[in-house]
Amino acid sequence: MKKCFVFLMCILLLQILAEPVVSKDDMPSGKLEIFSWWAGDEGPALEALIKLYNQHYPDVEVINATVTGGAGVNFRAVLKTRMLGGNPPDSFQVHAGQELIGTWVVADRMQDLTWLYKEEGWFDVFPQSVIDKLSYGGGIYSVPLNIHRAGVMWYIPSHLADWGITSPPKTLKEFYETCAILQGKGIIPLVVGEAWTTIHLWDEVALSVLGPDNYEALWTGRLSPNSNQMIAVWDEYGKILDCTNLRDNAAGLSWQQATDLLVSGEAAFNVMGDWVDGYLSTTLGLKAGDDYGWADFPNTQGAFTWLSDTFGLPVGAPNQEAAIAWLRMIGSVEGQNMFNPLKGSIPARVDAVEQAPELYNKYLQYTAKAWANDRLVGSMMHGVVANERFTGDFNQVLDIYIQSRNSTAAAAAMESVCKEAGACGL
Ligand code: GAL
Repeated sequence: MKKCFVFLMCILLLQILAEPVVSKDDMPSGKLEIFSWWAGDEGPALEALIKLYNQHYPDVEVINATVTGGAGVNFRAVLKTRMLGGNPPDSFQVHAGQELIGTWVVADRMQDLTWLYKEEGWFDVFPQSVIDKLSYGGGIYSVPLNIHRAGVMWYIPSHLADWGITSPPKTLKEFYETCAILQGKGIIPLVVGEAWTTIHLWDEVALSVLGPDNYEALWTGRLSPNSNQMIAVWDEYGKILDCTNLRDNAAGLSWQQATDLLVSGEAAFNVMGDWVDGYLSTTLGLKAGDDYGWADFPNTQGAFTWLSDTFGLPVGAPNQEAAIAWLRMIGSVEGQNMFNPLKGSIPARVDAVEQAPELYNKYLQYTAKAWANDRLVGSMMHGVVANERFTGDFNQVLDIYIQSRNSTAAAAAMESVCKEAGACGL
């Protein structure tokens, strides 16, 4: 009798092992709307991820809904209308940090995913510093797909050589010397594009002038936005802007078009996140390290301005089952290694690159090491250290500065915007 019982148990166990982890009956179906700003040139990595999802879940029809516009500047307005109108997508792109927490979590619009972290063992594979930026009041509210680096200065080595520039500038002094040489040759030393790219640049100038400790102190209320140190940031920002195309064609350029000017040899440097690596390698087919190069923004060596694209589960998501399957996949090694090499980012999981290092180009290998060793600081433009309202309103401070070139006025205006938005620890 006992033998018979053991035999039956063994048969049962073998049957269980032979079954897929999720049986066909449990497979999600219906429509799944994934909402992001990864359209057009920015699309290939997301498209590859959706294809992978469809291989696993063929009964789900994925709607790849996008709102064009770098850094989500147009997307966020549409998302707000939908969320407040009670029409949330199944899952949407949102930056780790204040953009997620200060906008959607405090307003009770996101579902707690702690249970999913436990089920998937994610506490062991996502860095605690990233999980902290997704957490509020004991809950965890999204799944990080990647880590992007913001403060990279991109260039084309062969062009620099043609112009007699032997290496990218390491200090601000060297930067201004290089700027003068390039301007003398009719080259744009540092290209900028539409408004958000000038905020992106401001972040790096602030880090360069303040150093990582004071940069962090600015967002946590330990350094006043209206202090002498901040006036020095605005002074330097003005000098840097004088090396850009701001007054010429900047407003009409997307970040991709600004990058195109590097490739065509009309501009020398672009301070932009490493989505530029994705654009240059995946879209334009160029080779990292040979066809294009990268350096830290002057005087920010050893610091890594990070941001993370994450996806969460909004309250009222129409297709919960399919959305949870999406979240499980983007948090997996398979999902992260499908997406990141194409996107120009590194996985948020600490164990993904080592499982397939050959997928990652020279730039991404370099950045994965820097992520592990550098001093990390959060990006303001991309939602880590300041909330959405602040980043939106900061445009006005830049306008005041660009029109007046008055650093004292800009510092005072920034303080008001911090207070109104409840940012900068104020
Ligand atoms: C960032 C985003 C990146 C990339 C970039 C340009 O905010 O995190 O993934 O899309 O904008 O659009």
